[in-house]
Amino acid sequence: MTDQPAKPAVPSADPAGQLPPTPVDGRPYSPGLEGVIAAETELGLVDGANGRLMYRGYRIGDLVAHGSYAAVANLLWTGRWEPAAHLPAAPVPPAVLEALRAIPRSAKPMDALRTAVSVWGATQTLDWPPSEAQARALTAFSPSALAAFARLRQGLEPVEPDPALDLVSGFLYQLTGTRPDGATARALDAYFIVGAEHGLNASTFAARVITSTRSDMASAVCGAIGAMKGPLHGGAPSEVVEQIHKVGSPEHAEQWVRDALARGERLMGFGHRVYRAYDPRARALRTVVEALPTRPDWLELAIKVEDAALRVLEEKYPDRPLKTNVEFYAAAVLQGVGLTPDLFPATFALARHAGWTAHVIEQASANRLIRPDARYAGAEERDLPA
Ligand code: ACO
Repeated sequence: MTDQPAKPAVPSADPAGQLPPTPVDGRPYSPGLEGVIAAETELGLVDGANGRLMYRGYRIGDLVAHGSYAAVANLLWTGRWEPAAHLPAAPVPPAVLEALRAIPRSAKPMDALRTAVSVWGATQTLDWPPSEAQARALTAFSPSALAAFARLRQGLEPVEPDPALDLVSGFLYQLTGTRPDGATARALDAYFIVGAEHGLNASTFAARVITSTRSDMASAVCGAIGAMKGPLHGGAPSEVVEQIHKVGSPEHAEQWVRDALARGERLMGFGHRVYRAYDPRARALRTVVEALPTRPDWLELAIKVEDAALRVLEEKYPDRPLKTNVEFYAAAVLQGVGLTPDLFPATFALARHAGWTAHVIEQASANRLIRPDARYAGAEERDLPA
């Protein structure tokens, strides 16, 4: 038996005037909380109109040029700029390794990472309030766990972390068993920096909501990973890779772009809901990519595709700036350092650990339970069927 709610959607006050009106009281309803300011933060400023992104006031381009992921994470957690900050990868506790061995090899890396963080949380004492030490420990643990899963699913044994290496080099080492060269590590480190923080996006909001109940940091990050796993958030650098492969060679770039637009397709890695200017993260990554001593052919092709796409998009939408977004150069870097596309979303999640955990600390420092209202749109008050 179906029991469809009656329309109209918004019930009126009780005719006898004894019940209060449905609690919306003229308050605006914003689907998706779009435009609603739901937190105050000192961590990151996303200024889409002017193409600016800053962490604690420092420009993203400067952080990439002069910093490391360890220094940026430290800045987000503590507010202090210490360029020499060191953050090595942490070992994976035996309980987590057991869990990673137990899940199917076909599991999505994001599911493996979420599981690993959950089991890790069960092995720790994560007291309230969440602390910088907890943030450090979790951010240092997750790359080791993802690398362990990536190896286990290939039938290889995990590699112990090397405490002399910083987090991003350490991640690549634990993934491949070989210490990365400086340029490769630098390129991925730049990607981690630009991915570290981006305001009150869905996963960060999820982490803050969980923290607002006084839950622990591992639970908040599990929730954040769950939110980021959705294709509307985790981004699609793997689709950029597919697109570049379809183009095939530089001389086909412009025609391919024109044909794709004529078919009504969207070009992956271009346009952005917030940025109306060139995405500052894409600019910072492009600089890093261009400085690589050896650029694989794939990268040369990507740069040609970008040039063609920007030209043709400007021709087609002269009044609507559609510029390169972070996904385009994220794809270039992730592919360039040898990661397989199915590891891209989980690698993004590793980078975002610094921001998530900094938001968890910030939320706890001035905590108020996050509990918005819903506009009731169901049936009016009625009797149960006889
Ligand atoms: N390729 C072709 N046309 C585009 C593109 C694109 N990448 N982006 C926008 N347009 C077109 C739209 O179809 C629209 O055309 P119309 O007026 O003829 O319908 C016009 O440009 C204006 O669109 P916007 O209002 O700027 O786009 P919107 O804000 O709705 O979407 C989005 C933003 C989803 C990012 C879009 O640009 C897009 O689909 N890009 C490709 C996918 C992508 O790169 N996603 C990653 C985003 S970055 C991130 O998530 C971290």
